[in-house]
Amino acid sequence: MTKRIVVVASGRGSNFQAIISALQRGSIPAECVALVTDNPKAYAIERAQAANIPVVVVDYRSFATRELYEQALFTALKDAGPDLVVLAGYMRIVGSAIVREYAGKMMNIHPALLPSFTGLHAQRQALEHGVKLTGCTVHFVDESLDGGPIILQRCVRVMDDDDEDTLANRILIQEHLALPEAVRLFCEDRLSIEGRKVKTR
Ligand code: GRF
Repeated sequence: MTKRIVVVASGRGSNFQAIISALQRGSIPAECVALVTDNPKAYAIERAQAANIPVVVVDYRSFATRELYEQALFTALKDAGPDLVVLAGYMRIVGSAIVREYAGKMMNIHPALLPSFTGLHAQRQALEHGVKLTGCTVHFVDESLDGGPIILQRCVRVMDDDDEDTLANRILIQEHLALPEAVRLFCEDRLSIEGRKVKTR
């Protein structure tokens, strides 16, 4: 059965684009039924429009409180009726009501090899720590910060002369492979969560 995907993105949307391209190639048995964004200026909106994907803007700044914003985001997600929610460069923490509703059905891409370097500026954290390898992680979202069960990871070398941009760009190439792959595995019903572990068949 074709799965319904909703992507949530805050900015540039290059990971969203990687999913769009995989869908257009027919590599993922799914349909992207909506882009939901908290940012009316997100470039991801143009990518959605170019691919005829409906856009729902839930403008964070137009809400008086974080709770009201979260309620509106929750409504937007429910209205879209997703089988899978993909956080692809969504720069906010998802509240617990949404996390609980989509337990095992919401994934996130993070630009580090978790559990190292959670939160913001993961590439900078990796450089400052002096690791020789870093990468990206696709994981299911739970109520911890970047701590949910890991679906897949890809690694990259850190070079002596890397700065945050060169390292982020090298990681991004791997993100664009990892995220569509994880979405595909989910949509093919090939992932199962057993405690902290995600098994792939
Ligand atoms: C990516 O590095 C992603 O891992 C992180 O935010 C960045 C978003 O990039 N969560 P893009 O919007 O997908 O281009």
